[in-house]
Amino acid sequence: MPIPTIRWVNGNVRIIDQTKLPGKLQYITCRNVNSLWKAIKNLNVRGAPALGVAAAFGVLLGCKSYKGTNRELFVKHVRKVCDHIGTSRPTAVNLFNALDRMREVLLRHATCAVPKIKKALWREAFAIYENDRRVCRKMGDHGASLIRTNSRIMTICNAGALATADYGTALGVLYSAKRKKKKFKVFACETRPLLQGARLTAWELLRAKIDTTLICDHMAASVMHQGKIDAVFAGADRIAANGDTANKIGTYNLAVLAKHHGIPFYIVAPRSTFDMSIRTGAQIPIEERKPEEVTHWGGRATAPKNVKVYNPAFDVTDHRLITAIVTEKGIIRPPFGKNIRKRFS
Ligand code: MRU
Repeated sequence: MPIPTIRWVNGNVRIIDQTKLPGKLQYITCRNVNSLWKAIKNLNVRGAPALGVAAAFGVLLGCKSYKGTNRELFVKHVRKVCDHIGTSRPTAVNLFNALDRMREVLLRHATCAVPKIKKALWREAFAIYENDRRVCRKMGDHGASLIRTNSRIMTICNAGALATADYGTALGVLYSAKRKKKKFKVFACETRPLLQGARLTAWELLRAKIDTTLICDHMAASVMHQGKIDAVFAGADRIAANGDTANKIGTYNLAVLAKHHGIPFYIVAPRSTFDMSIRTGAQIPIEERKPEEVTHWGGRATAPKNVKVYNPAFDVTDHRLITAIVTEKGIIRPPFGKNIRKRFS
């Protein structure tokens, strides 16, 4: 079930090229900051926790390219690298949290010699990577307690091993439930426009031998109405202090539908996906991506030329639609403002 999505191999960052799945399991080696930046932007590597790891490893690539011994210039160089990586994608806060951790290490070691600072940054990047592996398994175990025997679970986008270092958030819950020998089925929404649900989630779940049915996004209402769904599990890209949650576009649709049909709606996310500096989801920056993602598929136009396009990559689900948030610290229930603060204090 675990899939090593991103790894540090021989001084480079090795990632699964997710744009090639499900057709080919192919890898990309990023040897410098620019190639990693492009891999993030083009979604070769994607998913909030994986972006945190990618950002931290990206800083190590930046360290590698600095050959001098001048401490001030090195610190300046690494700061620039952090700022540059921060321009790749705006919504997943894991990326910024990882960069902040790297900046803090830089600050704490600002009076040390360059090799010592490099070593400290290296340790921090690996701590971020190892932490992701550990917390995903913890969330999986907490979340598995919410899955009843013979449950039918709906999910959207890919919150799996491919979206993290190697295990997943929402899909990690399913992997843990399977390990505990629970029986369940999954309905995966295809997730237009880039089909992370069809291409990645279906691929991952089949690989893990989990009973999976793929549906088009707009079939969700009818499938719920037919009584075929017992719970929805989704990941998150950023959670505000009040519990409002940004995740892949279409997640809000599912939350509204789940409320209407009396189905529990769960978010699964680690501490690194919480942004306690913002009060509500209205403050979450939502990435808008290029029109071609909507007007084309497989290099072919699927819409008339020059049609206007609006392509937000994420939406925000109001905390009042969320039944609970599964974290590595346990399951957080409403009132979210108070309970999130308490859990992470
Ligand atoms: O645009 P993407 O594919 O990076 O969007 C990813 C998602 O929205 C995931 O659901 C989210 O990052 C949670 S991943 C564990």
